[in-house]
Amino acid sequence: MDFNKLQIIKLLNDAEQQKTLFKKADNIRRQYVGDEVHLRGLIEFSNICRNNCLYCGIRRGNNKVVRYHMTEDELIDTARKAANIGFKTIVMQSGEDMYYTQDKMCRIIEAIKKFDVAITLSIGERTYDEYKAFREAGADRYLMRIETTDKDLYHKLDPEMSWQHRYDCLMMIKELGYELGSGIMVGLPEQTVESIADDLLFLKDIGIDMAGIGPFIPHPQTPLAGAAGGTLDLALRTMAVMRLMMPDINIPATTAMESLHPKGRIMALQAGANVVMPNVTEGEYRKLYELYPGKICVNDTPVHCRSCIGMKIEAIGRTIGKGYGGHQKSMQKTKD
Ligand code: 5AD
Ligand code: FES
Repeated sequence: MDFNKLQIIKLLNDAEQQKTLFKKADNIRRQYVGDEVHLRGLIEFSNICRNNCLYCGIRRGNNKVVRYHMTEDELIDTARKAANIGFKTIVMQSGEDMYYTQDKMCRIIEAIKKFDVAITLSIGERTYDEYKAFREAGADRYLMRIETTDKDLYHKLDPEMSWQHRYDCLMMIKELGYELGSGIMVGLPEQTVESIADDLLFLKDIGIDMAGIGPFIPHPQTPLAGAAGGTLDLALRTMAVMRLMMPDINIPATTAMESLHPKGRIMALQAGANVVMPNVTEGEYRKLYELYPGKICVNDTPVHCRSCIGMKIEAIGRTIGKGYGGHQKSMQKTKD
């Protein structure tokens, strides 16, 4: 649907009618992307980051974090196990850790590609040459949230980073033929619904293939410890409106949603989402990759999470996707 900014703001503000909105998003989801839920195995392979975003638990300045990065072999091994338990997409996520040079990443991508999986990278801002090399090595998709399109807010949340540069990175990724995932946090300090409406229009305008939308959850060891944080309801409404605006894209039920409510991901799957990214990181690393507090599944294993989420998905009458679950662009147009 081609909503204008005012229409989006109205939907985002309308807490009373949110059930109707979720129902609509659920119907559009069924109509365009069906009842399959695509699972992605998420490997959090390094919590070392050169950046210092005010909101993030693994920011450079948080000296209470016990830092780790997996070795090349550990990472490949984790991916192999995830492929063996049935994941058709592996998402490799980390802080901006320069230990993972271009050559190292390429070797890892080539090795993991042999497991017959789609590969998604979520490793932040890199150079064009690096993005190109990763793509040529076999990476299929790239996730990088724009976080907010309010440039002043973006620069307040990380004075060292540049909104324009992040945007330029998204454009490079798109040009190189990756499926592009982007998204935002909902409930950042000083963020308004007007600004969230701009974010949604932006994501539609750049033609993303996947939209990751989650509530901001303040981390006690960051400068934003005392902030209010986002609510699950507003995050769900934002996600549902995104589904109406971009009916055929992939939309994950985000982990942060479940951190605010024990049924957060199921609620999201019934309000427009069609993807879940269970954690397949092993052992202590799970706890140490703490972007925000209250992260779910920190004491679980990949096998446990796979079967837990599988049962929850089937309990609401949905099925687990059997293919790679990439963005199937629809030719169908919405009526208005
Ligand atoms: N609360 C919620 N989400 C967060 N992220 C980072 N820190 C937080 C937080 N405190 C999100 C960002 C980032 C993604 C990997 O995690 O949107 O892009
Ligand atoms: Fe990890 Fe349910 S998904 S325990």
